[in-house]
Amino acid sequence: MIPGLPNDRNPRMVVPCSVMLAVVLFGVLMLHVVSAQNAGFVKSPMSETKLTGDTFELYCDVIGNPTPEIQWWYGEINRADSFKQLWDGARKRRVSINTAYGNNGVSVLGITRLTLEDSGTYECRASNNPRRNDLRQNPALTWIRAQATISVLQKPKIDSSEHMTLPTETPNTPVILQCNLTTTPYKHLESFWMKNDEEIPGSRGNLNYTEYKINKPRADESGEYMCVYTFEMAPPANATIEVKAAPDITGHKRSENRNEGQAALLYCKSVGYPHPIWTWHKLDNGIVKEIDNSSGRFYISNKDNYTELNILNLDINSDPGKYQCNASNTLGTATTQSILRVRSYLAPLWPLLGVLAEIIILVVIIVVYEKRKSPDDVPEDDEPAGPMKTNSTNNHKDKNLRQRNTN
Ligand SMILES: *[C@@H]1O[C@H](CO)[C@@H](O)[C@H](O)[C@H]1NC(C)=O
Ligand SMILES: *[C@@H]1O[C@H](CO)[C@@H](O)[C@H](O)[C@H]1NC(C)=O
Ligand SMILES: *[C@@H]1O[C@H](CO)[C@@H](O)[C@H](O)[C@H]1NC(C)=O
Ligand SMILES: *[C@@H]1O[C@H](CO)[C@@H](O)[C@H](O)[C@H]1NC(C)=O
Ligand SMILES: *[C@@H]1O[C@H](CO)[C@@H](O)[C@H](O)[C@H]1NC(C)=O
Ligand SMILES: *[C@@H]1O[C@H](CO)[C@@H](O)[C@H](O)[C@H]1NC(C)=O
Repeated sequence: MIPGLPNDRNPRMVVPCSVMLAVVLFGVLMLHVVSAQNAGFVKSPMSETKLTGDTFELYCDVIGNPTPEIQWWYGEINRADSFKQLWDGARKRRVSINTAYGNNGVSVLGITRLTLEDSGTYECRASNNPRRNDLRQNPALTWIRAQATISVLQKPKIDSSEHMTLPTETPNTPVILQCNLTTTPYKHLESFWMKNDEEIPGSRGNLNYTEYKINKPRADESGEYMCVYTFEMAPPANATIEVKAAPDITGHKRSENRNEGQAALLYCKSVGYPHPIWTWHKLDNGIVKEIDNSSGRFYISNKDNYTELNILNLDINSDPGKYQCNASNTLGTATTQSILRVRSYLAPLWPLLGVLAEIIILVVIIVVYEKRKSPDDVPEDDEPAGPMKTNSTNNHKDKNLRQRNTN
């Protein structure tokens, strides 16, 4: 070993070492910066104007690491200095707070049956600062905040027709629905009618009185009607009139033909309001029976004015027959029947088997015919086999045959 060499080497070793140390330190620092992240809003609550009796919901979505804690605070209008914390069940249980902490903190504040006193500033506060609840800290520095203003206005008063049932005995007498806007602090713009949540075309007007005429009051005209008034400086106000009728089944599958092992689908559609409660039964020699679902193959799905019965993996012995759907509401009931036919597995093969059988029979006939014909043909073999057999030779052959026969 030459003593000079280590000195020569050492500086080279030191440089890479310090670089590596720096890289590692920097990495740890970066990791720290990435892992600890201050709270930040992804979604903050939005200001809204509402009418008395309505409901509102405010959303707050916060990101951060660790997941931030969320609180809701309330300050009366023009008194933003005196905020009070809200809790779930406050204001005689009209306040609800639902918060979920996952990667983000997400919270929904809801207030139902609004009163004029609910107007004010609602604040979502979030923090993941470890010292956020330390009373010596200034909350303005440890919590982030997002505000929304909720204005609650007096709901205008609407006088509307009573809920009604469509007359069955006088189906050609028009029925008239009415709404009167009686008191409103706001300038009213327009009115229109809705049926089952859809605007009725051509029903717009600008008077404080509005009516809608049902010319042919049949079950398909039943439903939930609503008159809506719009205002210059306030949200729309509305009144609902329920127009009821007994159910009437307007569509169903009369028959369903399936193969065993396949699935069958039967359905029924109705008009009438309220939407019916649907049931399905099976008719056994005219006797209404519950559907036996011990095999777990029967599925019923109902959607307001529509019902569907699905039968999976059809059984040729137990499933065929008459099925009955029953729609009933407070005013009456209606039923219809559907026939389910189930064919055997082989059914789709029958035409093919038929063709096969025909071919086999044909082949047998030809073979038998050829066999019976061949002894007569043997003598003909003596004749010179010309490349072209013409009709004349056939006629000649026939003559020979006839001559032989006469012999
Ligand atoms: C609405 O007002 C008219 C008169 O302005 C009245 O004839 C009608 O009965 C009122 N309707 C309702 C539902 O209050
Ligand atoms: C409806 O408006 C008219 C004038 O536009 C007014 O005379 C009447 O009193 C109002 N009716 C109600 C019920 O407010
Ligand atoms: C009708 O009024 C209710 C209560 O004010 C409100 O929640 C609803 O959105 C209104 N519907 C329409 C279609 O205006
Ligand atoms: C069934 O209800 C839906 C929505 O409620 C409606 O769009 C549809 O027209 C209704 N069908 C019948 C047959 O009434
Ligand atoms: C029939 O049984 C299956 C399986 O247990 C079940 O999922 C289905 O809801 C049942 N259908 C009816 C109409 O009860
Ligand atoms: C339909 O179901 C209702 C309620 O279960 C029942 O009262 C009514 O008798 C049934 N109607 C028929 C025709 O089966």
